[in-house]
Amino acid sequence: MNNIKIHPSILGANHGDLAGDVRRLGLAGADYLHMDVMDGDFVPNFGLGTEIFKCVRANSDIPMDTHLMIREPARHVRYFRELGSEIITIHPEADRQCAATLAMIREMGAIPGIAINPGTSVESVKELFPICGHVLVMTVNPGFGGQKFLEYTVGKIQLLSRLSKEYGFSLCVDGGIDTELVKRLAPMGVINFVIGSALFRGDPGEVLREIRSLAF
Ligand code: DX5
Ligand code: ZN
Repeated sequence: MNNIKIHPSILGANHGDLAGDVRRLGLAGADYLHMDVMDGDFVPNFGLGTEIFKCVRANSDIPMDTHLMIREPARHVRYFRELGSEIITIHPEADRQCAATLAMIREMGAIPGIAINPGTSVESVKELFPICGHVLVMTVNPGFGGQKFLEYTVGKIQLLSRLSKEYGFSLCVDGGIDTELVKRLAPMGVINFVIGSALFRGDPGEVLREIRSLAF
C-alpha cells in the first residue's frame, strides 16, 4: 500500500443513486470526497448544491474537500464549513481578498486551499503559499468532469511539487486523472488525486484498490 490519497469527485457519481455511490466509496476507503461547487459565472456550469452536501454527509463520514468555483467565495465559506468541509479551496482569480478568505477558512478550523487554473502562473499566487495548506493544480479548465488532461500542466506540477516540500502544503491534481496518470505523476511527488469520470466509469472500488496497490 502506498501513501496516495484519493479524492473521488462527487460530480462524476451516479446522482440517481448518490447515497449508494457514497456508501460504496466509504467501503472502498476513499480518503476525501471532492465536492465541486460551481456558480455558472466563474465557470460555465452549475454544480453541487447544498442538498447534495447533506445527502453525502448523511451517508458517509469521509472528510469533504470542497472546491469552490464561485466568485467572491468569502460570502459562502462559513456555510460550506457548516456542511462538513474539512478542506475549502478557492480560486484566487475569483476573490478580491483571497488572502483574507484563506485566513477566514483557517479560523473556522478547515484547511485553506487555492486552485491554480491551467492559465494561471505559479508566480502570480506564490505569496499565498505560506497561508494555505492545500494546493489544487487544475489539469483541465474548470467547469466540467470528463475532460482530457492538459499535458502542458506537467511542468507546473513538477515546480509545485518542490514548493510543497518547502512550504508544507499538500499537493493535489484535478481534471482528467486516471490510473495511468497516477502512475506518472506520483513519482513526481503528487500525493493527492481528484478522480471523477475514470473512477465512476466502472466499479469505483476496483479502481481505488488498483491505485492503492501501485508500488512507487
Ligand atoms: C472540474 C472539476 C473536477 C472534475 C473532475 O472542473 O474541478 O473536480 O469533477 O472530473 P474528471 O476526473 O472527470 O476530470
Ligand atoms: Zn474539482
